[in-house]
Amino acid sequence: MQIKNHNGLFVGGASGMALATAELFQEKGGKVAILDLPTSNGEAVAKRLGGTFYPCNVMDYAATESAIDAAVGALGSVHFCCNTAGGGVAKRTVAKDGPHPLEDFQRVIDLNLISSFNISRLVAAKMIENEPNEDGERGCIINTASIAAFEGQIGQVAYSAAKAGIVGMTFVMARDLGSMGVRANAIAPSLFETGLTAGIPDEAALALTKDAAFPKRMGRPIHYALQAISMYENAMMNGGTVRVDAGQRFAPR
Ligand SMILES: NC(=O)c1ccc[n+]([C@@H]2O[C@H](COP(=O)([O-])OP(=O)(O)OC[C@H]3O[C@@H](n4cnc5c(N)ncnc54)[C@H](O)[C@@H]3O)[C@@H](O)[C@H]2O)c1
Repeated sequence: MQIKNHNGLFVGGASGMALATAELFQEKGGKVAILDLPTSNGEAVAKRLGGTFYPCNVMDYAATESAIDAAVGALGSVHFCCNTAGGGVAKRTVAKDGPHPLEDFQRVIDLNLISSFNISRLVAAKMIENEPNEDGERGCIINTASIAAFEGQIGQVAYSAAKAGIVGMTFVMARDLGSMGVRANAIAPSLFETGLTAGIPDEAALALTKDAAFPKRMGRPIHYALQAISMYENAMMNGGTVRVDAGQRFAPR
């Protein structure tokens, strides 16, 4: 699908991987709207990219719907949605202080999985109103999983469950939306240099990337963006989750 004169929503787009994707989309002639927390750098980022900022917390599902309505209303339509808002908690199923608090597990599912589904369903409903291109395409949604969806480390039980949910959901979503010309994909990054990982000490980053095939280092936001843009442009990319991980497999710890 072409990018020139098409419109994209970048949820979590004030920083890291969605920001790099928004930059590339804008560079290729697309128009961007950034959705991110009110406390984020979204306003400045949107201004720099000639786009608009819609503050929202993706865990507030009604407010997210209003932000999507406002963003798509102002753009006139939406063809691309890239969502990276998410995060985890480091807790084991049972630890010295007792079982994993259920509310922590629930919060990670809400933040990553429920919010991704909420954004996807609302955006897809807008995309189906687009005039299809010559291949019948109306839009493409990209959600963000993690290699922890496949081999989560000790303490990642909630995060792995949420990200595995994104992987499973993506294939069915592609089937659900196929007859309407909307594609859905997910990206599963290894450890990437973003706002989320800024606090990881160098030695820990080395330990966490030492099992990669090549290169043995953290990914950069542009590596995610290149994959996301390729998924958008390539009509045959649908329903899948692509690992962007330098051949990395997480060890148990
Ligand atoms: N960085 C990594 O190593 C890595 C690896 C695998 C998966 N991921 C996934 O990538 C995503 C994080 O992206 P990033 O690494 O570019 O981090 P980042 O912190 O640079 O960017 C994430 C953006 O999402 C926004 N955000 C967070 N919670 C939000 C909320 N509740 N509502 C609205 N916006 C919110 C943040 O303000 C931030 O601007 C998460 O889904 C994470 O699970 C990251």
